[in-house]
Amino acid sequence: MRRPRRGAVPPTAAGTLAAMSEPVPSTPDVLEKLVSLCKQRGFFFGSSEIYGGINALYDYGPLGARMRRNVRNLWWRAMVESRDDVEPIETSIIMNPQVWVASGHVATFSDPLVDCTGTCRKRWRADHLGDLRRERGKPEDAPGCPECGGPLTKARQFNLMFRTHLGPVADDAAQVYLRPETAQGMFVNFATVVQAMRRRLPFGLAQLCKSFRNEISPSNSIFRTREFEQMEMEFFCKPGTDVEWHDYWCTERMRWWTEDCGVRGSRLRLRVHDKEELSHYSTATSDVEYLFPWGWGELEGVADRTDFDLRSHMKHSGRDLSYFDTETTERYVPFVIEPAAGLDRGCLTMLVDAYDEEEVRGEKRVVLRLHPDVAPWQVAVLPLSKKPQLTEVSRALAARLRTRFRTEHDETQSIGRRYRRQDEIGTPLAVTVDFDSLEDNAVTIRERDGMTQVRVPIEQLERACEDQLAACRASALKRARE
Ligand code: GAP
Repeated sequence: MRRPRRGAVPPTAAGTLAAMSEPVPSTPDVLEKLVSLCKQRGFFFGSSEIYGGINALYDYGPLGARMRRNVRNLWWRAMVESRDDVEPIETSIIMNPQVWVASGHVATFSDPLVDCTGTCRKRWRADHLGDLRRERGKPEDAPGCPECGGPLTKARQFNLMFRTHLGPVADDAAQVYLRPETAQGMFVNFATVVQAMRRRLPFGLAQLCKSFRNEISPSNSIFRTREFEQMEMEFFCKPGTDVEWHDYWCTERMRWWTEDCGVRGSRLRLRVHDKEELSHYSTATSDVEYLFPWGWGELEGVADRTDFDLRSHMKHSGRDLSYFDTETTERYVPFVIEPAAGLDRGCLTMLVDAYDEEEVRGEKRVVLRLHPDVAPWQVAVLPLSKKPQLTEVSRALAARLRTRFRTEHDETQSIGRRYRRQDEIGTPLAVTVDFDSLEDNAVTIRERDGMTQVRVPIEQLERACEDQLAACRASALKRARE
């Protein structure tokens, strides 16, 4: 299960494939500043806050929803649309409960928890006590509750699957689960897809959907939540070719995080699991990890799941999920390589990685250096003032640009404050319409990172934005590779 893969795992020299020399994490207070910025600017905030919120559940505002859509699209493009060996699939969140018996989730998808019987009465994950104490400035091996030091109960296992009931009678026979991973939907449909699509091995099934886990210690904003979105792909291949495919997918997924999403390679690493750390279904797993302000944390796991899941579903369902290779006339149960990433965690990573502060002309500038394909907006059109002769032109220009780029029209507040806002939300280009524009039919394009400005004729604006965005992509790539 994913149990051993959770949370920040200390680096092991032997287990680090791509550890960079002394990577520098962002400053410890970045998360706090970012979470506040994200709420203020409409990226994400606590769910149902007018009722006091609900623990570890979040809502995404207009900018967060846009950014998530962009990251989804990047994943979909890389994993489905640009390949001829991966098919998309969308399976139901609630499945036959036997699926979770076969997968092992009913028996083993649990965390050990302890309760404080002292003053605070809080519940903790037993295997996180050291970290929890450290976070509170106490020695890791201090006795008792991380908060109040009170006595703790013995550890009990707590299953992380959310339960509900199907139909009107809430008895045990009607009990079902909200899926804790999207993967099983792909295993149980393997044979149906092979037949429907006349698919030959190797090929993958990709799915980008919600999963649910009743986490005991959700933490670090949207890093670990109870409802989240997974970007998972199960790649079915011939036994014996799995090691090669595992290497291939590790490389490809590291490439995606850096080249397509602009995450700095100097803060990413691929960490190979030790034998003791491997999940029961896996012979090899490597995690893509990012150096967060609180330490290394997993973004994605790339696992060789062998034929464990297909065999287990064959046993529990009585259905044949083997594959007949017409070329070699062999029948076998495929092995599976699984790159499994989190969308929410991915977005948090891109935001943390992009957050920057600098001093410009004696003033602090906060800027999100987001990749132009990730940023909520690509272009902001700003009239210098709210005078109708300017806004008429700027609105028409925004409407024109909107057909090609993600474009916002922003006319409230002073131009300086609007530039600052666009920097804070990571918009790569700002197009300013001023009074001269009415005379010379030209506008100014300001680029976010270098704050350089160029004057371009309105009739060539689309082309100019295209060129500037290409330059932004190139500098994002350079930054990611540094
Ligand atoms: N099918 C394999 C699987 O689910 P996992 O490592 O448990 O493996 C894959 O999950 C990815 O899903 C993680 O790397 C992480 O990015 C994301 N993820 C897992 N639990 C999460 C949570 N509680 N909140 C946010 N993202 C989570």
